[in-house]
Amino acid sequence: MRYRAREVGVDGGVRLVMESALTARDRVGVQDFLLLENFTSEAAFIENLRRRFKENLVYTYIGSVLVSVNPYKDLEIYSRQHMERYRGVNFYEISPHIFALADNSYRALRTERRDQCLLISGESGAGKTEASKKILLYYISTCPARDNSSYIRDRLLQSNPVLEAFGNAKTLRNDNSSRFGKYMDIQFDFKGCPIGGHILSYLLEKTRVVHQNHGERSFHIFYQLLEGGDQETLKRRGLERNAQSYHYLVKGSCPRVSSINDKSDWKAVNKALAVIGFNEEEVEKLLDIVASVLHLGNTQFGEDEEGETHITTDTQLRYLTKLLGVSGTALSQALTHRKIIAKGEEMISPLNLEQAMSSRDALAKAVYSRTFTWLVAKINQSLAFKDDIYYSGKCSSVIGLLDIYGFEVFQINSFEQFCINYCNEKLQQLLIELTLKSEQEEYEAEGIAWEPVNYFDNKIICDLVEEKHKGIIALLDEECLRPGDATDITFLEKMEDTLRNHAHFVTHKLSNGKTRKAVGREEFRLLHYAGEVNYNVNGFLDKNNDLLYRNLKEVMCLSENPIMSQCFHQEEVNDQKRPDTAATQFKVSLARLMEILMSKEPSYMRCIKPNDGKQPGRFDEMLVRHQVKYLGLMESLRVRRAGFAYRRHYQAFLQRYKSLCPDTWPNWEGNLQDGVATLVKHLSYKPEEYKLGRSKIFIRFPKTLFITEDALEARKPDLATILQTSWRGYRERSSYHRTRHAVITIQSWWRGVKDRRKARRRREAANTIRSLIKGFILRNEPRCSDNEFYLAHVRFSFLMTLKRNLPKNVLDQSWPKPPTGIEEASEHIHTLWLRNTMRHYCRRVQPEWKHQLEQKVIASEMFRNQKDCYPQSVPKLFLGTRLEADQINLKVIQTLGNDRMKYGVPVIKYDRHGFKPRPRQLLLTASAVVLVQEAKIKQKVDYGTLLSISVSTLSDGFFVLHVPTNNTKQKGDLVLQCDHVIETVTKLAIMADKIHNVNVIDDSINFAVARGKVGAIDFTIGAELRVVKAKGGHLAVTAPRLNPA
Ligand SMILES: Nc1ncnc2c1ncn2[C@@H]1O[C@H](COP(=O)(O)OP(=O)(O)OP(=O)(O)O)[C@@H](O)[C@H]1O
Ligand SMILES: [Mg+2]
Repeated sequence: MRYRAREVGVDGGVRLVMESALTARDRVGVQDFLLLENFTSEAAFIENLRRRFKENLVYTYIGSVLVSVNPYKDLEIYSRQHMERYRGVNFYEISPHIFALADNSYRALRTERRDQCLLISGESGAGKTEASKKILLYYISTCPARDNSSYIRDRLLQSNPVLEAFGNAKTLRNDNSSRFGKYMDIQFDFKGCPIGGHILSYLLEKTRVVHQNHGERSFHIFYQLLEGGDQETLKRRGLERNAQSYHYLVKGSCPRVSSINDKSDWKAVNKALAVIGFNEEEVEKLLDIVASVLHLGNTQFGEDEEGETHITTDTQLRYLTKLLGVSGTALSQALTHRKIIAKGEEMISPLNLEQAMSSRDALAKAVYSRTFTWLVAKINQSLAFKDDIYYSGKCSSVIGLLDIYGFEVFQINSFEQFCINYCNEKLQQLLIELTLKSEQEEYEAEGIAWEPVNYFDNKIICDLVEEKHKGIIALLDEECLRPGDATDITFLEKMEDTLRNHAHFVTHKLSNGKTRKAVGREEFRLLHYAGEVNYNVNGFLDKNNDLLYRNLKEVMCLSENPIMSQCFHQEEVNDQKRPDTAATQFKVSLARLMEILMSKEPSYMRCIKPNDGKQPGRFDEMLVRHQVKYLGLMESLRVRRAGFAYRRHYQAFLQRYKSLCPDTWPNWEGNLQDGVATLVKHLSYKPEEYKLGRSKIFIRFPKTLFITEDALEARKPDLATILQTSWRGYRERSSYHRTRHAVITIQSWWRGVKDRRKARRRREAANTIRSLIKGFILRNEPRCSDNEFYLAHVRFSFLMTLKRNLPKNVLDQSWPKPPTGIEEASEHIHTLWLRNTMRHYCRRVQPEWKHQLEQKVIASEMFRNQKDCYPQSVPKLFLGTRLEADQINLKVIQTLGNDRMKYGVPVIKYDRHGFKPRPRQLLLTASAVVLVQEAKIKQKVDYGTLLSISVSTLSDGFFVLHVPTNNTKQKGDLVLQCDHVIETVTKLAIMADKIHNVNVIDDSINFAVARGKVGAIDFTIGAELRVVKAKGGHLAVTAPRLNPA
C-alpha cells in the first residue's frame, strides 16, 4: 500500500495525507531499522529480519540502504504491477523493495543529472546477481523508450543469459554462482531513456575449466551444449551427450543439478546470442571453441620408448585441429614441447608427462578465459550507443550496477578464492569509506556535534593483501619473478617471514594451540572482515604466473577460427616483456573499479543469505548474525540513526530549493549559509530535523527531504510557467527581431533599387536633355551624331502630336504645323491620312446617302459659288419627292401610266404673259418633266427636248426651263418658282442629263415666249423677296443676299 496525494499548502508547506495505511503484513516488524526501538541491540535487529523473513518480507531499510534476505523461492513481487507501484514514488512512502532503490537512483539521475551506482554486496548465494537482474529489468520496463530503443533494451537484458552461461557455475554455495566480477553501466539519454550499456568484467575463475571441487560444476555452457545441442551440432564437433565422458566435467561428480535446466537454458542462450547480434557463423565458431576445450580435456599423453611425450588420443587431436583451425602437428608439438628463448636463441625442450598435461590445461584455461573476454567485448559492441550526437558525456548519464562474486569459503580455498575474497574486502572497504568513515569524518569537518561510532575498518586487511613490497600480492609477484627455485612453499615461507606479526595473518607455523590444528602446513589463514579463510598455497605461483608456453601461443595466433585469432595476437608472442601477473592485473583493475564507483553517487544493497542449504523459509540465525556483523550493518544503523540521511553543499541546496522561499527566489545575494537558514525556516524545518555545518546542510530524516522535494514538485508548474513565459518571450522577441531585420533588409534593398532606378532615370534624363540642347544648337547642321537624337525627337514628337491632334474628319482642315525639314513628309502624311479617312468614310456610306451625296456633288458642281442660296441648301437633305402619290391627282397618274413620277414638288408657274403666278405641281418622270394643275397635265417637256435650265445667282427660287421655240407642242419656256430650287433643278438636271445645261445667270434671264418672242426676268438684290411686273414687260425679282459675295 502506499501513501499518496501529498498536498501542498499555499505557504509552500507540505502536508502528508495518508491515503491508505500499510497492510498489517507490511507492518510486521519495522520497515526501516531506524525505527527500531532498541537500535543498538543485534538481537532485536536479527529478530526484525527474521519476523519479516517469515512473512516473506525480504526487504528492509537502514535509512536509504536496502537489506535483503534471499528467500530462495519465487515471491511474485517483481511483476509489472509491482514495478508500476514503485515508479516515481518516494522511498519511505511504500514498503521496502529493490524497485524502490532502483527508482530512487533513477530519479536522482534524472533530477540531479549525476551518475549513479548501485553497490550490491553479500556473500556467495546471497542474491546479488538476481538483484542486479531485477534492477535492470525494472529500468528496461519502466523507463521511457526512445523510438528505436527496444533493440537496445533487449540486448541489455539478453546480455545476462549469455554472460551467465559462460561465466557462472554451480558451486557448493550457489547453483548459479558468478565466477567473474561484473560491473555494468546502463546509459540513459537526457530524457531518461536507456540508450546503451557497457560491461566491465573482472577475473574469471578459469581454473574451473579444468578442475572443480566435489559437488561443483564447470561453467554452465559446457553442460548446456551437451544437453541442449542437437545431434548434428554435437556430431560435427565429435561430442557425445554424456557429460561424464569429459575429464574436465567429471571432477566435481555433479553433471546435473535439480535447480538447473540445461536444455531450456541452452535455448535461452541461443536466443540471447541472436538478439545481441551474433551471426550464425560466430555462434558456430564460439561453440567450436567450447567443444575444443572439452576435447583438450580428453587429450591424453603417453611416453614412447625414448621417454618422449606424445599425444595418444588422435581423435581428440583431429577434432582440436578442426575446431580451433590450427595445424595438428604444430599443436601436438606445442603441447609436448616448450620453446625457450635464451640469449636470443630459440631452444626447444620436450615436456614430461606432467608438464604436458599442465600445458594442455593452461591452453584450455587460456582459450576459455580469452573467449570470455572476447564475448564481453562483443556484447559491449552491441550495447554501445551509436548515435554520436548524444554520446558526449554531457548528454548521457549512467547508472552502474556492480555484481561481483561474493565472499566465499570452501574446504580448500585456492588462489581464486583469495582473489574473490580480496575483491570483497575492497568493496567492503569502499562501503566503509563511503558510509561509515567519511560520513563521520564529514560531521567532524563540518563542526556537527557527533559521538563517534566505532566500526571495524578492514583497511588493515586490504593493506595486508595489496600493500606495495609488503603485501601478499607483492610477495607472490616477487616469488614468481625471482630467479631460482621458487615454489608455493617458498612463497609461504616468505609470507611467514614478512607478515609474521600481522594480526590478520596466520600460518601453521606462526600459530599455536587450537589454531595450529585448524591451519594445514601448506595453508595460510587470513582473518577477513567476513570471517577466517584458510588458503592452500598449492598452485598460487602457477596461477599467478598464468603461464602459457610461447609455442602454444604461436600456434593459436595462426588459428583460422576468427574468434581465436582475435584472442591471440602475434604482438604478444613477440613482446619480450613479461606481462603483469594475474594478481597484479586484478589489483589494478580493482583499483580502477573503485575509482569508477567513487566517481558516482552510490546506493547500497546488502544481501544476506538465510541458510547454507539454499532452502526457502529457513532462517539460520547464526549464519545471519555472522553476516550482519561482518557487513557492519549494526554500525551502519548506528551512524544512520545518529547521523543525517542527507547532506548537501549550501550552494547546491539553495540552488535546488530556492524557488520555495520568496526571500531566496530568484537569487539569494548574501551569505550562502544565511540563505539556507532562511530557506529552511520558511520551509518550517524543526530544529531537530537539520543541522547547518560549515559548508553543508545536514538533514536528519529522508522524510524531511522528501517533503521538500514534494514542495519543489508542486512548485514546478509555476517554474515551468516562468520558463515558458521567458522562453515564449524570447522566442517572440527573436521572431520579432528576425522579422524586423528581414523587413529592414527588404526595405533597404527596395529603396536601393528604387533610388538606383531614379538615379539612372535622372542620368538618362540629363543625357537626353543634354543631347536635345546640343541637337537644338546643331539642328540646322547636316545630320550627325550630335543632332541626330534631337532630330529624331523632333520627328517623333511631331508624329506624337500629330497622333493626338489628327483632324476629326475630312472637312476639318486643321493639320499640326510640321517642324522644319519634314514639311514634305507631313504633306505626304496629310494626303495619306486624307485618303485613308475618305476611304474609311466612303466604305461606311449607305446607298441612300451615297445617292444623296452624288446629287449634292452635282448640285455643288452646278451652284457652288454661283447661286447665293446654295450654301443654305447644302445642309438640307434632298428628299426623294416633295409630293406623295396621294397628293397627285389619280387622273394624272393614270395619264402618266408607266412613266411613273419619280419626283414631285409644288411650284408656282408664272405666265409668260402678265406673269400671273399659278400654283402647279411639277413632276419628274423617267422621261419628262410634267407640269400639272390638279387633274390636268398643263405641259409636258420630254427630257430630250429640254434645252437648258436657267437660274439666277440670287437666293430666289426662280428657274426657267428652256424648250425649243419651234416645237409646236410647247408654248414656250417655263418660268417656275420653287421653294426647293436647288433640289428640284439638281434632280431635273440629273434625270434629264442636263447637268452641263444649267445656267446660273446674273441680272436677267431671258426666256422664250411662243412665236419667237422673248421675255426677261430681272434679278436685283433687295431687302426681301419680291416679285413684281416691271415696266417693259419684264418680271422684276428682288431677292435678299444671304451670303456676302
Ligand atoms: N529475490 C529472490 N527471489 C527468489 N530467489 C532468489 C532471489 N535472490 C536470489 N535467489 C535465489 O538464490 C540464488 C543465488 O542468487 P544469486 O545467484 O543472485 O547469488 P549471488 O549473490 O550472485 O552469488 P554469487 O556471489 O555466488 O554470484 C538464485 O539462483 C536464486 O535461486
Ligand atoms: Mg552472482
